[in-house]
Amino acid sequence: MPGLIPENILDDILSRIDIVELISSYIPLKRTGRNFKACCPFHHEKTPSFIVSPDRQIYNCFGCGESGNAFKFLMRYEQMDFPEAVEVLARKAGVILPQKVAEDNKTQGIITQIYRINELTAEFYTFNFESKEGVKAKDYLLGRGISPETIKALKLGFALDKWDSLINHLRAKGFNLALLEKAGLIVSRDGGGYYDRFRNRIVFPIFDVKGRVLGFGCRVLDNSLPKYINSPETLVYTKGRNLYGLNLAKEAIRDNDFVVVVEGYMDFLLPFQEGLKPIVASQGTALTSEQVRFLKRYTNNVIMVYDSDIAGELATLRSLDIFIEEEVNVRIVSLPKGFDPDSFVRKQGIGEFRKEIENALDLFDYKLKVLKSRYDIKDTTNKAKVCGLMLETINKLKNAILKAEYLKKLSLQLGVKEEALLDEAKRVKPARFGQGHKESDKKKPLSISPTEKLLMSLMLEENSLINRIRESLSPQDFVDERICRIVSVMFNLVEQGKEVKPQTLMNHLEDEVSSLICEPEFLPEGLSLEHKERMADDCLKRIKNEGRRVKRERLHEEIKAAQYAGDEKRLNSLMEEFHLLIKKG
Ligand code: UTP
Ligand code: MN
Repeated sequence: MPGLIPENILDDILSRIDIVELISSYIPLKRTGRNFKACCPFHHEKTPSFIVSPDRQIYNCFGCGESGNAFKFLMRYEQMDFPEAVEVLARKAGVILPQKVAEDNKTQGIITQIYRINELTAEFYTFNFESKEGVKAKDYLLGRGISPETIKALKLGFALDKWDSLINHLRAKGFNLALLEKAGLIVSRDGGGYYDRFRNRIVFPIFDVKGRVLGFGCRVLDNSLPKYINSPETLVYTKGRNLYGLNLAKEAIRDNDFVVVVEGYMDFLLPFQEGLKPIVASQGTALTSEQVRFLKRYTNNVIMVYDSDIAGELATLRSLDIFIEEEVNVRIVSLPKGFDPDSFVRKQGIGEFRKEIENALDLFDYKLKVLKSRYDIKDTTNKAKVCGLMLETINKLKNAILKAEYLKKLSLQLGVKEEALLDEAKRVKPARFGQGHKESDKKKPLSISPTEKLLMSLMLEENSLINRIRESLSPQDFVDERICRIVSVMFNLVEQGKEVKPQTLMNHLEDEVSSLICEPEFLPEGLSLEHKERMADDCLKRIKNEGRRVKRERLHEEIKAAQYAGDEKRLNSLMEEFHLLIKKG
């Protein structure tokens, strides 16, 4: 590989990178005369013998003999291979790598084609919808009160009850199968050949803000499962990056300066049709910070509407903290039991729905309400627990005045002295370094890695994989604490020779955790065991790498903290840990 990158380009990169700057972004360097020194990150030592020379742009450790240039440092420290290190530094230096240009052009070509294919596919589905075969789809939607205008505005369609209608349609237009597979529209068969991913379903094309078709969500016409089959992630579609309906709602969101966020496609349709235009659907998952940032371009006021069954979930509550982090005002509506926005508007009308929205609770009131319904605060321990959970949220507020307001409010509502709350707030607040830090930063519930989730689903679907995974991973290797918990229960069950089924698994899990198992999954249908094994192995590899990276970063922080604090003992044990990690490679 190294040979592929011309020497002059490597020189060019090195000439624009300062090794002192690079290394000091990892470990604290102290100036000594012309050079800089530090305790060597590659071996255990108490007095610094690791020297970085700005003149020669190299590092050298007199203790262990490790030495090299900027590329070598990254390779050793970040465990990158050479091309990776070159890529990272090229980006830093603003140097464009030749084969990267070619690659980018090629990918760009595929992306353009996928958009084109998606467009044609959406047209094909709307055509089917209007055909004789599409009558049942049309009847279904009309039966649920969706008007022909709404159907048209959202370009709803129908996928025929055939294995190859889309394949044939697009092939006739000259697209090859590999490309259709890249677009996520067809699935390869074990014995060879392909079939249409979406069959006999109502089609919701998923648009981006510009109105390009990213993918599709497709609903059955009856009560069979899975209710929706969605496009897999493709070069143009990443889950958690778009919001359904935003292309139609964006102006209204800006004009009204608020947006209503619902969960489902169907929850979007009826309110929108009845005139509530500033509305989008999150497509079944908790909002990601990316989505919140997206909305922020149009408004700072978000109203989340939940079905009552999820509203009580603490996991959902925690996910609301991203709004604070993004400094977006959020208010929450929990609909009466048994209703979702779609059924609520159909039964009670849009006027009542608007009233619910006007009466939405702010994050503080909502969280307190949910917590109070969970914990009986007449009990002192419970009250302290609720205090702690509320303070976690209040502490995240960046605005000091708001913070003070909320503390006052909390003190009033719980009957706890404000001074006590202030003391407690200081304690709950994560420290910049050291302890608390670990707890709070380690596991961000919101950004569940798709890899972890995929692997969990694979194990759930194919129990034989559990043993395979158990040999190489421990539950702690999963960054998300909920998945970590689920996996550890899975492993236990398997150890006891029991079958692992979603329903049995749930008996062993707390509500917040088991909700994850119920979340809609996007495993393509009809994968062979072999294919699943391959997927699982890929996930395994990625999780291992990711785990090492996270661990390294965390150790980093702690090493820095210990260095600042001058805590020799801690520093030594941390360094020891660090070396072990690096050695394991
Ligand atoms: P819902 O079950 O609330 O669906 O899931 P819905 O859209 O309201 O449909 P109706 O009212 O039952 O017809 C909410 C969203 O979660 C995602 C879809 O985006 C759906 O709109 N979902 C749900 C899936 O992706 N897959 C599923 O199997 C179920
Ligand atoms: Mn619904």
